[in-house]
Amino acid sequence: MKTMKRNLILFFIVVFAVIPAYTQKSNIIYKQKDAPVEERIKDLLSRMTLEEKIYQLNQYTIGENTNVNNIGEVTKSIPSKIGSLIYFSADPVRRNTIQKKAMEESRLGIPILFGFDIIHGFRVVYPIPLAQACSWNPELVKSAAEFAAKESKLSGVDWTFSPMIDIGLDPRWGRVAESYGEDPYTNAVFGVATVEGYQGTDLSSPYSVAACLKHYVAYGMSEGGRDYRASNVSQQSLWETYLPPYQACIEAGAATVMSSFNDISGIPATANHYMLTEILKQKWQYDGFVVSDWNAVSQLIHQGVAKDGKEAALKSIMAGLDMDMKDNIFLENLADLIEEKKVPVERIDDAVTRILRVKFRLGLFDNPYTNIVDEKDRYLKNEDILLAQKLAEESMVLLKNKENTLPLPSPVKEIAVVGPMAKDKSNMLGSWSYHGKEEEVESIYEGLEKEFGKNVRLNYAKGCDFDGTDESLFAEAVHIAQHSEAVIICLGELKTWSGENASRSTISLPVIQEKLVSELKKTGKPLILILSNGRPLELARLEPLADAIVEIWQPGIAGGTPLAGILSGRINPSGRLAITFPYTTGQIPMYYNMRPSSRPFREMGNYQDIPNDPLYWLGYGLSYTDYEYGKATLSSEKISKDQKLKVEVAVTNTGDRKGSETVFWYINDPVSTISRPVKELKHFEKKELNPGEKKVFVFEIDPHKDLSYVDSNGDRFLEAGDYYVMVNDQKLKFELTE
Ligand code: GLC
Repeated sequence: MKTMKRNLILFFIVVFAVIPAYTQKSNIIYKQKDAPVEERIKDLLSRMTLEEKIYQLNQYTIGENTNVNNIGEVTKSIPSKIGSLIYFSADPVRRNTIQKKAMEESRLGIPILFGFDIIHGFRVVYPIPLAQACSWNPELVKSAAEFAAKESKLSGVDWTFSPMIDIGLDPRWGRVAESYGEDPYTNAVFGVATVEGYQGTDLSSPYSVAACLKHYVAYGMSEGGRDYRASNVSQQSLWETYLPPYQACIEAGAATVMSSFNDISGIPATANHYMLTEILKQKWQYDGFVVSDWNAVSQLIHQGVAKDGKEAALKSIMAGLDMDMKDNIFLENLADLIEEKKVPVERIDDAVTRILRVKFRLGLFDNPYTNIVDEKDRYLKNEDILLAQKLAEESMVLLKNKENTLPLPSPVKEIAVVGPMAKDKSNMLGSWSYHGKEEEVESIYEGLEKEFGKNVRLNYAKGCDFDGTDESLFAEAVHIAQHSEAVIICLGELKTWSGENASRSTISLPVIQEKLVSELKKTGKPLILILSNGRPLELARLEPLADAIVEIWQPGIAGGTPLAGILSGRINPSGRLAITFPYTTGQIPMYYNMRPSSRPFREMGNYQDIPNDPLYWLGYGLSYTDYEYGKATLSSEKISKDQKLKVEVAVTNTGDRKGSETVFWYINDPVSTISRPVKELKHFEKKELNPGEKKVFVFEIDPHKDLSYVDSNGDRFLEAGDYYVMVNDQKLKFELTE
């Protein structure tokens, strides 16, 4: 009897509690892992209140207060239904604690998206992006992004605010350090490589993070190289220079875009309907979301297009912005704007849909928590550090090597190592290296110690500070130089002199550093100048004093060993500049793909007081070996628009050591509806060549991709006529017919 009663009770429990619950869960499509993403979004959206929708459009910050006693307080302060957080911490447990709030305390359990600035590495800090571009090795850059994504994901970050693909034509702008240089094609290639590295082939894989293209758009033209100013750019230059890297990265699947601080010829990017909606979402059919830059919505008030926060919210959401970073303007105003019928719910639903799409694609609904691994298994993996070394090695550029000063003669007994960068660690990290640790950086001096070991005596003297007027350390530097066979002078910039809000009125190094070189020059010893900086420098006065110059940029945590390898000759430098070095600051703007002058005669239209050319053009860099270019050949001298043209050149390593050569292929269209640049980079390839080895480099020209141009509406056109393809110092003419 008892058993029957028990079974009866069990039966009713199953019938009236478990099945409905099960059925009900199985009816909740957005919770069904195998349901199509778009159906999950639609189902979830239909269940959300307006307030829940608006919360998804907001991003707060958390993590600067890392006092363990306050975690509870800070976590408590985070609304469980917030859309996203900028996560300054590197603690995955903390992140999961916050995520648990969202999953279990909010009504619908929508996961939070944790973002952060992982610009060139998380804990293993790689060279700054400008340096990475000088490697001309997209595969290596992609691998670095993959490793950075893994360290980030294991630290609780799902979304990185990178790559920055702003074309920087003014090196006074501190953020040229974060870009891939002055050329649109180069920024497109390296931007795509970085997006692919971060996102992998499956955004939901355990080590993928969502990328974020920034700063959309033309932030690199912020007037005078000063941050937060207007970019007065024509529609034509928007389409031919600033938008191509974004289009390429969006075609590569970049999950998100960040609107920029600057005003674009009168309409700030964050309230620019033409940029955010007509181009991005309509013309390019972009299905990701746009986040504003930090407080960029409220800054619309300062920029004079909104009288208050409410108007700023109205203008930005209606322009096509989807998520408000940090300033709470959306949270404070959208409900009223909807109530007043100034913002249609459809626009809110579109923004929420885009944000949920990224969260579903990242797999956050099904795997909302970070996989916890020990810190020793999370960071500084040996293969990561070796990769950082390799990328630093390939990004370093030999700018001068008079009478083969380098590699250092062997045997060498005593070397002077002087300058503020010689033992510096912190500034080798460069800007945007928040999780990099100074103590984990290998300095130049440490690299030299490892390379030369006990065989060479390294005589060190600081010589001077980065800036200031204190010359009291000169004497010691001169003294040790006099007792050494060569002098390695390590100069450069503080990492705070580039990056955000780090514009400089001159790209020269501080006078004190130049004076140190002048004093050391008097010793008559070979001077080897090592530069660690985040922008092109004005070297007009330093170049003549140096016997050799190596540009190492800001190489991250592993620059010491590769540089020492270059100085000893173990490594043959292969970096080439991805940005032009103007002769002086006054020569800015100076970039390789300028439009032709109406008087292209040497003495016309240039400054009268300095040389016409920059000190170094994009693509410049020396090697310890020599490369001989054979005669380039065309597969045909005439092709129609639907045919391809193959151009080949054989390159021989005529030296006695292995090296890697990058071959750059440019095109020129001498007559076009729109005046075109004197040369346009369309392809590059880097190959290793053993001594005596010859390799053929090929560029297959696809007229629609490589010869077409764009008009001010963004429409590409291809015109028949004569064209030139250029490689090394050769210029070959061919005809394109209809
Ligand atoms: C900053 C930068 C942007 C960064 C964002 C979040 O102001 O302009 O590059 O991603 O805010 O830190």
